[in-house]
Amino acid sequence: MNDALRLLQDRQFDVVVSDMAMPGLTGLDLLQRVKELSPECEVILLTGEGTVETAVQAMKLGAYDFLSKPFSLAELETLIQKAYERRRLSQENRQLKAVLERSQPKVPMIGESLAMQDVFKLIAKAGPSDKAILVQGESGTGKELVARALHEHSSRAGRPLISINCTALTETLLESELFGHEKGAFTGAIAAKPGLFELADGGTLFIDEIGEMPGVMQAKLLRVLQDGSMRRVGSLQERRVNVRVITATNRDLAAEVAAHRFREDLYYRINVMSLDLPPLRIRSGDIPLLVNHFLGTVWQIAPDALRVLETYNWPGNIRQLINVIERAKILADDHFITTDELPAVVLSPVVATSTTGSASSIVPLLPVDDGTLSAIEKARVVDVMQKQKGNKSRAAQVLGVSRRSLYRLLEKYGLDGVSPAAETLNSPT
Ligand SMILES: Nc1ncnc2c1ncn2[C@@H]1O[C@H](COP(=O)(O)OP(=O)(O)OP(=O)(O)O)[C@@H](O)[C@H]1O
Ligand SMILES: [Mg+2]
Repeated sequence: MNDALRLLQDRQFDVVVSDMAMPGLTGLDLLQRVKELSPECEVILLTGEGTVETAVQAMKLGAYDFLSKPFSLAELETLIQKAYERRRLSQENRQLKAVLERSQPKVPMIGESLAMQDVFKLIAKAGPSDKAILVQGESGTGKELVARALHEHSSRAGRPLISINCTALTETLLESELFGHEKGAFTGAIAAKPGLFELADGGTLFIDEIGEMPGVMQAKLLRVLQDGSMRRVGSLQERRVNVRVITATNRDLAAEVAAHRFREDLYYRINVMSLDLPPLRIRSGDIPLLVNHFLGTVWQIAPDALRVLETYNWPGNIRQLINVIERAKILADDHFITTDELPAVVLSPVVATSTTGSASSIVPLLPVDDGTLSAIEKARVVDVMQKQKGNKSRAAQVLGVSRRSLYRLLEKYGLDGVSPAAETLNSPT
């Protein structure tokens, strides 16, 4: 075990195969160490009786997969092959977090309201301009989608679009992500790594939640925006990059500048042009279109339920609308959504809304409290998970939600442990 750790420190491995129960460190400990030392290394754990539960936890900690004993050598071989393949792929486009948009399916932007037509016009004009653009809007209004659209409308469209979110990244991490580092620049920097500016060279870098960027980093960002030069952490070598920067924030950046929390000079650099996204409540005419889009071809919604959605004021904007629809799909029967499946906050909002449609249309509806709805939701999830023998892909399909939504639900209701064994056999990655 100690030998393994020593080797891991000195060399890069593609795949690690480890037993779950060993003298000294457990398989989970080893997994965590491997992921610290070399996040891209894939780990396969071998589990015996009584360790399957732990294996589920291992999956959450980033294990590639686990294999329950007894297994054949051929099974192990196939699994190693698959793990190696994934490792090779993730190596190919090194930083997966920084999404290369070319490989992503295009998400259509829905909206016919005047406000959205203005947005589309701006995208068509500002996209090709190659200028730095600041996208502003409340949470869930589609800022990231707009950033992609801007990139796709530019001459850089064939080049990478790389994105980074400033929230939850410490200053050091943010700096090394953006500018890269040399080997040994700090503890844990076991190999040199190019920064996102280098990876985005010739393309676009989307910096999300720029309002969260620490002051020191603001200065460094300003520098690369001014003269296109940067240095990796721990390096003296100047590198030149040609990157278009698009930023987004849901804060009032002008106010942040006034309060001296955001550098004024940087504000002008990133805000050559700004694009403000309208909140959903001021364009409720788009709601039926959006609802239909998110329902897909199979699902339908009752007219009064649609009216409720149209009159709600959507503090969480489109993201919240998507969540409400996904949740309703779980609860509804026969691919038909009624008011019964809408959450209480939407049915009887605390603050009266003053958009289109009369508020009175909401009043006669029987408000279902969130507790009851949650109980129904939980029961339905348990039922489907059991019927599908714990296979999450199939359960998600039956429920009509994404795998990610299903994981959230399982976590919310403490159902993570439902038939893990069945999941293993089929778990696609
Ligand atoms: N006009 C639109 N048409 C269809 N889907 C949209 C539209 N705008 C946003 N969405 C969808 O809504 C969700 C939220 O969008 P996005 O992530 O771009 O918002 P955001 O403003 O970046 O939110 P946040 O501030 O929470 O990060 C995404 O799933 C996105 O695909
Ligand atoms: Mg966003």
